[in-house]
Amino acid sequence: MKSELRARLRGRFEPPGDKSIGHRLALLSALAEGRSRLEGFPPGQDCASTLGVLRALSVETSRDEDAVEIEGRGLDGLEPPETVLDCGNSGSTARMVCGILAGQPFTSRLVGDESLSRRPLDRVVIPLTRMGAAIETTQGFLPMTITGGRRLRGIDYELPIASAQVKTAVLFAGLYADGITRVKESVPSRNHTELALLAFGASPIIRPGEIAIGGGSSLSPGRFKIPGDFSSAAFFIGAAAFLAGSELVVDNVGLNPTRVAFLEALQAMGADIEVEAAPSPSSGAEPQGRVVVHGRKLQGAEIPREKVPALIDELPILAVVAAFASGTTRVEGASELRVKESDRLSAIVEGLRALGADVTESEDGFEIRGAAGGRALRPGRLRSFGDHRMVMAWAVAALGVEGECGIDHLDQVKISYPGFWQTLDRLVC
Ligand code: S3P
Repeated sequence: MKSELRARLRGRFEPPGDKSIGHRLALLSALAEGRSRLEGFPPGQDCASTLGVLRALSVETSRDEDAVEIEGRGLDGLEPPETVLDCGNSGSTARMVCGILAGQPFTSRLVGDESLSRRPLDRVVIPLTRMGAAIETTQGFLPMTITGGRRLRGIDYELPIASAQVKTAVLFAGLYADGITRVKESVPSRNHTELALLAFGASPIIRPGEIAIGGGSSLSPGRFKIPGDFSSAAFFIGAAAFLAGSELVVDNVGLNPTRVAFLEALQAMGADIEVEAAPSPSSGAEPQGRVVVHGRKLQGAEIPREKVPALIDELPILAVVAAFASGTTRVEGASELRVKESDRLSAIVEGLRALGADVTESEDGFEIRGAAGGRALRPGRLRSFGDHRMVMAWAVAALGVEGECGIDHLDQVKISYPGFWQTLDRLVC
């Protein structure tokens, strides 16, 4: 990828539908009593994996333009699959679906691609087994067999790691369990499942740090407009924030407070960002609005540990921004990055060093002493390890240095943002 020093972004765009919300709405639509319509359904392969799994369980889905319609079969309407259930690259699919499959009368087998087959499953297997599920993994990884016909019971579960995927798997299993299932979290993870359960008419009890659901709650179908994916928008927001002369407007982007700590981090680095939230949403609706960014020189910041879950997917792009800022940026408490689509901590450190950045890696984070602009950094070979978010973070890094950077697996953007390169082409000037 070739770029001029001081490339900048100008214009406006709308990110694709939110992937996290897309998975949850698709899964709950399948369990609802009737047809749901999901407008702005995410175009990436991850949500297609969720739809593929649902179809294998005899759920009818259809697409028109950017909308997906799903014929809900009720909580007990899924049918035994005739094939293995392929989750592709999608950790969210594998883990969330697991909660639903644990409550079925039939047995299913889940598989995934090479990257997904290296990602840990114990985090969902442990609580689901406590609920009575029978799950066998391959030494803690996919392929995994979930034996049906087990009676589940509600549990009180304190999340040992801040993980919305685990929270969701336990709550989905809770829909099939006798009694109440309660999940507690000491650090908030994204709350899309809580909002989606409300929107489908279930009656979760939501308190700070705790959510409970009773078994057997029936779900009503609905019509939803999925907001733009903040995590996809983040690559452009981050780029525009540090590329001086940039002026970027992001329309219809999700602004759920459990997702947008990246904006706070950028503001702590001195970024010029305005957020215009759309009028207050009704219960169960996702906050959304517009973000306006003007590029300027940034300085490093300390990222508070408790904010890490709310910017976990944005850490690769935050690291890139930090490398171009002045001063030090420190992230701790992010060991979860080691078990994402790649080991993102070592991928970030390796790539930034290839650009000549001054970076230290720790067990659970990194420290970046910024180069205060692109001149001190040089082009380099940026390995993405087949990880969509690393590809997009490196594309932004390449905009900041003079000369040509090599980035591999460019087409992996298809996982979450198939239109990424076109949008980048259009906005860069
Ligand atoms: C997700 C939660 C996060 C995030 C992932 C999507 C979700 O993972 O990294 O991209 O949709 O719930 P964890 O919950 O495992 O941290």
